[in-house]
Amino acid sequence: MNTKLLFADAGAFPTPMLAVFAVDLATGKKEEPRPLLLTQSSDLAGAATRALGPGEFKAGLGETALIHTSDRLKSAGLQPDRLLLVGLGKAKDLSLDRLRKGTGTAVRAAKARSVPELAIAFPEASADLNAPLAELSAKLTARALAEGAELAELDWDTYRSDRKDRSVNDLSLISKVLDKNTEQQALAGFAEGLIVAAAQNFTRSLVNEPGNVLTPTELGARAKAMCDDAGLACQVYSTEKIRALKMESFWSVAKGSAEPPALIVMTYEPAGGVAEGAPVLGLVGKGITFDSGGISLKPGDGMEKMKYDMAGAAAMIGAMHAIARLKPAVKVVAVVCAAENMPDGRASKPGDVVTAMSGTTIEIVNTDAEGRLVLADGLHYAKTLGATHLIDAATLTGACVVALGVLNAGLFSNDETACAKFVNALAVSGEGFWRLPCTDDYRERITSEIADIMNTGKNRWGGAISAAMFLKEFAGDTPWVHLDIAGCAWNEEKKPWIAYGPSGVAVRSIVEWVRGYSAQ
Ligand code: BES
Ligand code: ZN
Ligand code: ZN
Repeated sequence: MNTKLLFADAGAFPTPMLAVFAVDLATGKKEEPRPLLLTQSSDLAGAATRALGPGEFKAGLGETALIHTSDRLKSAGLQPDRLLLVGLGKAKDLSLDRLRKGTGTAVRAAKARSVPELAIAFPEASADLNAPLAELSAKLTARALAEGAELAELDWDTYRSDRKDRSVNDLSLISKVLDKNTEQQALAGFAEGLIVAAAQNFTRSLVNEPGNVLTPTELGARAKAMCDDAGLACQVYSTEKIRALKMESFWSVAKGSAEPPALIVMTYEPAGGVAEGAPVLGLVGKGITFDSGGISLKPGDGMEKMKYDMAGAAAMIGAMHAIARLKPAVKVVAVVCAAENMPDGRASKPGDVVTAMSGTTIEIVNTDAEGRLVLADGLHYAKTLGATHLIDAATLTGACVVALGVLNAGLFSNDETACAKFVNALAVSGEGFWRLPCTDDYRERITSEIADIMNTGKNRWGGAISAAMFLKEFAGDTPWVHLDIAGCAWNEEKKPWIAYGPSGVAVRSIVEWVRGYSAQ
């Protein structure tokens, strides 16, 4: 999709389809919907009047209505052939995230109708609605529109013979003419949005791949190709190095598969170097390219979903792609631990004890709790590479999905400052993360009788916390943020603004967290 940002009068822009946002002004539950078009153009408002009549279009989030422009209106100066009204929901709920979703809805509606050229009008405040829109900056608005559009464009029927390559080829985001300074801000936000969304789409493309295609070796190759292209240093190691580093915890997962593991290290150094004592950020991703559960075999039902057990790794690889292009003034090292978790004659058995690279001994009670085993060595290794602050992302526990459902992912941290920076990042990314505890009083839940710790909690209760406590052991005193994205990495339900399949969750938030440490 060729996406541009223009400063012009949307109503006078010749295009096969112009999308215009609308909100519902009704507040009370019993009140009839009162849709309001977010435009200052009387031509556009006039053309839509009839569609805004009682009940026809309620401006609900994801709702659309199509209007073909009459010759009369065209001769009066209204240029688009069609208007697509796009609902953003209740006026009081208007947010950047709703704009992102509304833009996505417009792109997917155009795509479904085989309209290859689309224009979208920036939302404009009116006398009836000022507060929520006025609070959104031109920069973040442009960024949200760019992101929403790019994320919406893709469908994941990659391997279908009847795949229709329908797409919106040309997209024009149209803002009214602003003062030069605000226009620059909008252009900067737009450029950032394209970069971050491209990174998130790259993550999604990795998560989408089946386990037979995306083996640990292939994940390494794709990370390397991205890094070569983006100008990042990248090393991809395998069994020999993992064993030489004494990553017995990581290896205990990998050794049950015929596919060799991959330890992927990607490094971003700011052009001007970094000051002595400046932070070095360590990004660590769980890259289980297929999780059968190992000897603690998972039930067959739904096991195919475990191809996306590398979504944490893919998020880190995508984040590095964006970081390479956004160039924050902070050094970043990403470590991805990729392996297949399979049952085999050589696989780890429940009851086995291994010594992690840090020297901590681990009793493997359940071979299906493998993510924390690979991350244990990944987190420790990132510290040996100089990381002063850590963030990890992992499809780690079903328990997190039980706790939070699919709208929020789990957020854990041992450090208020690092965590606050992550929460700040969410205001820009619009992603849902909900903090859960991992205080030291939970530590006894992972104490083993035979070793230092065990890889499950004493029982099922608070399973996401037990997993976090396990990782916390390896973060040690280093400020650390842990993201359990098990419930959010895969969209089971398609929405008007996004396709079924890989979501690319966490990329935007991680990138923003990193930028929060930038020296400039
Ligand atoms: N990969 C799974 C977690 C998962 C569940 C990811 C649902 C995505 C969707 C993880 O390796 C796992 O199997 N965890 C176990 C841990 C248990 C054995 C302590 C779980 O959650 O059941
Ligand atoms: Zn597992
Ligand atoms: Zn897993």
